[in-house]
Amino acid sequence: MSDFLQLGSPNERPRAPRLDELDLKFSDQALAELDELYSHYPDKKSCILPGLWIAQREYGGYLNGEAIAEVAYHLKRSYAEVEGVATFYSMYNTVHAVGKHMIEVCTCLSCQVCGAYPVAEYLKKKLGVGFGETTEDGVFTLHEVECLNACDRAPVLQVGSSYHGPVDEKSIDALLENLRAQEESTVIQMANDIVKVQTGPLKSK
Ligand code: FES
Repeated sequence: MSDFLQLGSPNERPRAPRLDELDLKFSDQALAELDELYSHYPDKKSCILPGLWIAQREYGGYLNGEAIAEVAYHLKRSYAEVEGVATFYSMYNTVHAVGKHMIEVCTCLSCQVCGAYPVAEYLKKKLGVGFGETTEDGVFTLHEVECLNACDRAPVLQVGSSYHGPVDEKSIDALLENLRAQEESTVIQMANDIVKVQTGPLKSK
């Protein structure tokens, strides 16, 4: 069975790697970005959130124990502290590895009344997976999410940094086709976009 299909549980966390087990993976670019971040904040603790975005990009879209430990190592914080932050926010992928593209389906009220559940069922049938699962080929992960703050476009999907809506079966078919043809992972792209914003020039007041 594919690793992608083995669902983790938020309550079943991996053992924290020991310091002597760490195989640091941050690229030179990532280390330079961390240095830049240090100049934006009063202390390293304040860099946990942007540091986790760097890790999400560097570790292929998934914050496993090693990724969290590496952030803790660079920021000189405890593993427990960084893991506590990472697992609090749903945009960090800490439960299981995700596919190249994550399709997030809003099923909150406005989307629901505009057909979010039939949209979700169509996606499940097309991809052969349920919410929280990844296709066998590792291309798509399907997630159910709360309001994406784009209710005027209901029913809405989010893929990486882009919103798509209102969607129907035809536009979903086109979207899936475009995503399959795309070389870059929208999960990694989004993490990189967020890192760029966070390491960008500071605006003076
Ligand atoms: S309810 Fe779906 S974007 Fe707001």
